[in-house]
Amino acid sequence: MFITFEGIDLSGKSTQAKLLYDYLRRKKKKVILVREPGGTAVSEKIRDILLDKSLKKMFSLTEFLLFSASRHQLTEEVIKPHLKKGYFVICDRYYDSSTAYQGYGGKIEMNIIKNINTIASNKLNPDITFFVDIDMKESAKRRYSMKKTKDRMESKKVDYFNKVIKGYRSLAKLHRNRFVLLDGKRTIEELQNDILNTLKKKNKNV
Ligand code: ADP
Ligand code: TYD
Repeated sequence: MFITFEGIDLSGKSTQAKLLYDYLRRKKKKVILVREPGGTAVSEKIRDILLDKSLKKMFSLTEFLLFSASRHQLTEEVIKPHLKKGYFVICDRYYDSSTAYQGYGGKIEMNIIKNINTIASNKLNPDITFFVDIDMKESAKRRYSMKKTKDRMESKKVDYFNKVIKGYRSLAKLHRNRFVLLDGKRTIEELQNDILNTLKKKNKNV
């Protein structure tokens, strides 16, 4: 089963991805946890470029193609071989991030996004996607309390992120069969319970 987590920065998706990973490990299931961009030697190098704040000039298409290149490498090198061996694969972000950030948030035409997403993922689709939804106020509040500095992507304008959030909400409506929308302001425990209950309904093996 291919499980993905989506949401804006600091929504709490990595926390939930890790909790699910720990739960499945405790249950002695075959499971891996990966993140995007990253997860392979090549993809981690691409990640460094994408998040490097000193790179002031990056065209939108360059950015999108780099995310896609990183995704293709991770898909072929790690995700597909593990799915074939019967693993649960949990991925912190997948192609919906590109649709939300580079499509809804950025300037890339949606049909280009769709086509490249299909090529980069080689037609692999998540079985279920947990979208942890918070607004920009909550994200800023968490950043302030964590004293977290901004990387290149996080340095974009508030307007951009509001479009990303709206984009994720549209995606959740467009793909109701796959998306599970979660209110990210609820407690970590409440969210984890919801995620586990939803998964148990979908997969008896969880
Ligand atoms: P993301 O992966 O979406 O960037 P993280 O999982 O790293 O987010 O969480 C960002 C911060 O928010 C961390 O300090 C984490 O402890 C906190 N956090 C996570 N989930 C919640 C929650 N449900 N309520 C309040 N704070 C949370
Ligand atoms: P990361 O530090 O992993 O953020 P987070 O912990 O919130 O997941 O950085 C990834 C950044 O890249 C994040 O700001 C979202 C962005 N991103 C895109 O814009 N498009 C994509 O396709 C992906 C995978 C990530």
